[in-house]
Amino acid sequence: MVNHYRPAPSLLVEDGLELRVPEEKDSEELFLKIDENRQYLREWLPWLDDVKSVEEESEAIRQGAYSENGCMYLILLGGSIVGTVGLNSIDWANRRFTIGYWLSEDSTGSGIVTKCCARLIDHCFAELGLHRATILVAVENSISRAVPERLGMSLEGIMKDREWLYDHFVDAAIYGITAPEWHALRNQSVHGPQ
Ligand SMILES: CC(C)(COP(=O)(O)OP(=O)(O)OC[C@H]1O[C@@H](n2cnc3c(N)ncnc32)[C@H](O)[C@@H]1OP(=O)(O)O)[C@@H](O)C(=O)NCCC(=O)NCCS
Repeated sequence: MVNHYRPAPSLLVEDGLELRVPEEKDSEELFLKIDENRQYLREWLPWLDDVKSVEEESEAIRQGAYSENGCMYLILLGGSIVGTVGLNSIDWANRRFTIGYWLSEDSTGSGIVTKCCARLIDHCFAELGLHRATILVAVENSISRAVPERLGMSLEGIMKDREWLYDHFVDAAIYGITAPEWHALRNQSVHGPQ
């Protein structure tokens, strides 16, 4: 018997930084943020051509609807949308999940995504009873690979031709961490030498 919990609809990361599931009313602000960053995001994300209007963004929000199998969170900095973190495809039978993310270019460089991922992983392990987190990143996306590396996740392998990116396939680096490994790392950084 596997327990299914619902992910929290919102998570406080730190003062002024919050994750919250989107509502229909967020469509316009989210679309404008994506549109501003279209060229920047297109280098590594495959879905930019599917979001060309506020209506399409509303539809994406409806489809990525909040459920026990996963959800998309808005990253809110001082109440404004600066990106998203996806808690993707929770596999309850095997107690594992995958995380994906993007940030608006002008919000990069201050640890926002790393902190949001850490908060989400904490929630998944501590409150949802999940056991394994995975992040898949294009092998050549070194800025994004730094996120799981900063979180203490291990490089487990390379998946060949994992994703079709508009006109070519890209290989993915698979990063993973289990709940006991995560807690050991956290305890080490709390109690370890400064
Ligand atoms: C991938 C992406 C989200 C990474 O953004 P980022 O700003 O580098 O990541 P973070 O928010 O974790 O910030 C890390 C940076 O903040 C710095 N930083 C400052 N304070 C920090 C803190 N408290 N904790 C962690 N990092 C901190 C880090 O040193 C790092 O800067 P550096 O790269 O100059 O060393 C962003 O580049 C992006 O959206 N790219 C396009 C889409 C994409 O590739 N998505 C991922 C697909 S797998």
